[in-house]
Amino acid sequence: MISDILKKAREYELAHESDILPEERPVFHLSPRVGWLNDPNGFSWYDGKYHLFYQYNPYSSVWGPMHWGHVVSDDLLNWQYLPVIMAPDTPCDNFGVFSGTAEVLPDGRQILMYTGVRKEKDEQGKDREYQVQCVASGDGLSYEKYEGNPVITAADIPEGSSFSDFRDPKIWRKSDGTYSCIATNRDATGSAQLLMYTCPDGFHWSFHKVFFSNNWRFGNMWECPDFVECDGKWLLFASPMEMEAIGTEYPNGRSCMCLIGSYDEQTDTFHEEQNQIVDSGIDFYASQTMKAPDGRTIMIGWMANWDVCEFRQPKEKWYGMMTLPRELSVRDGRLYQAPVRELEKLRTNPVSHKDVAVSGKVSLEGVRGRCADLVLNIRPGEDTTAFTIRLAEDEKRHVSLVWCPKEGVLKLDRRFSGSRQGTIHQRECVVGQRDELKLRIVLDRFSVEAFVGEGERVMTATFFTEQSADGISFESNGTSVLTVEKYDLERK
Ligand code: FRU
Repeated sequence: MISDILKKAREYELAHESDILPEERPVFHLSPRVGWLNDPNGFSWYDGKYHLFYQYNPYSSVWGPMHWGHVVSDDLLNWQYLPVIMAPDTPCDNFGVFSGTAEVLPDGRQILMYTGVRKEKDEQGKDREYQVQCVASGDGLSYEKYEGNPVITAADIPEGSSFSDFRDPKIWRKSDGTYSCIATNRDATGSAQLLMYTCPDGFHWSFHKVFFSNNWRFGNMWECPDFVECDGKWLLFASPMEMEAIGTEYPNGRSCMCLIGSYDEQTDTFHEEQNQIVDSGIDFYASQTMKAPDGRTIMIGWMANWDVCEFRQPKEKWYGMMTLPRELSVRDGRLYQAPVRELEKLRTNPVSHKDVAVSGKVSLEGVRGRCADLVLNIRPGEDTTAFTIRLAEDEKRHVSLVWCPKEGVLKLDRRFSGSRQGTIHQRECVVGQRDELKLRIVLDRFSVEAFVGEGERVMTATFFTEQSADGISFESNGTSVLTVEKYDLERK
């Protein structure tokens, strides 16, 4: 039996999905079936397919009552829409079905653990919000919320901690078959803490410990924690809110960070060794990871950021995209990212230019397009002060990446992408002194993801420049030598 609220959402998405024309969407990045999309949820491999759920408001292109949208894929790039699977339709989630993650139950069903948000008037008639943890289970197609929900409530948090900022559970199964989860929360001082719960069967949870305390180091609240083993290290991801800038690594506001370290399963203790920003661009938040059947650790994020998306208007047909799924690796204690190798199957029309001497501005034969995979190698001369790559270019507009080899920084700039908002349009990251710069740039109509070197740095941004702006050009201040491999990317 499905609720009237879920039924209505399903009817709505069926009736309205054809309002969005295929050419109005990205080609291989996920966009919402209709309406609004934010965080990835329940990213998993289950029953022979990749599953991805997402924070979803079908009714409008701005954030609203949160549902869970659902898509499946064989290759992480071609996503098939399935009916919306959860709606805010029970007493403990009447204000929203917030973010969460997936695991497998001992009987083979998939379990989804998520945050239920309830709003109520208090004695003074003021709105009060309660966030609790809930579960649902299903077979990959249909899911039922557990009748015993919520499974973790304000009664299960340490004294003085916040009951209104308590969300985004990350569930995993330990080698002994029991389940653990961490959920984000604020301690009595308002700083982020991750609370750990344990459970024998997925349904009966008990408070275990404060897993990690921020102590006001990175922002206040940490949204969407994720915890995964990769190449012998443990990665603890979170998206802090309201950060002060820290050195050259972390900008002001929202971003996503990764703490890298070790984990003692006996004592459930994480020892941080190092930390880094996950994406140094503008649009990356609330990432989740999953283990592919071939052992790869794959991460996906929301290709947006709360500090910039508020400017979108309800009149747009849709809002929100996921990033490319990215393969993670850890080398010398640092996180590396690469587009999933499946992307190479979408490559067509190869064009290459080898060892081109660039001085001033050039365009190269066959190198243009808004849906493309570019592999660049730039070797600056002694006199090179800046090397600029312009994308989505016409006479008036472009998005640029500028490498300043002497300063050792890479700058991303979308000021001239047609935006009329005074929001974040520029970011830069330190790439260090190097003799040559390798860049892999992936474009998909409304976005750019630039992977530096072996993937040690990534810069992501969205832009909504008209599609006719499809030029790509290169400009060197001083003489540089450039090698380009370029492919169009087509959905097959
Ligand atoms: C992060 C977030 C989560 C929350 C969800 C609500 O982007 O704020 O903390 O669960 O979005 O849509």
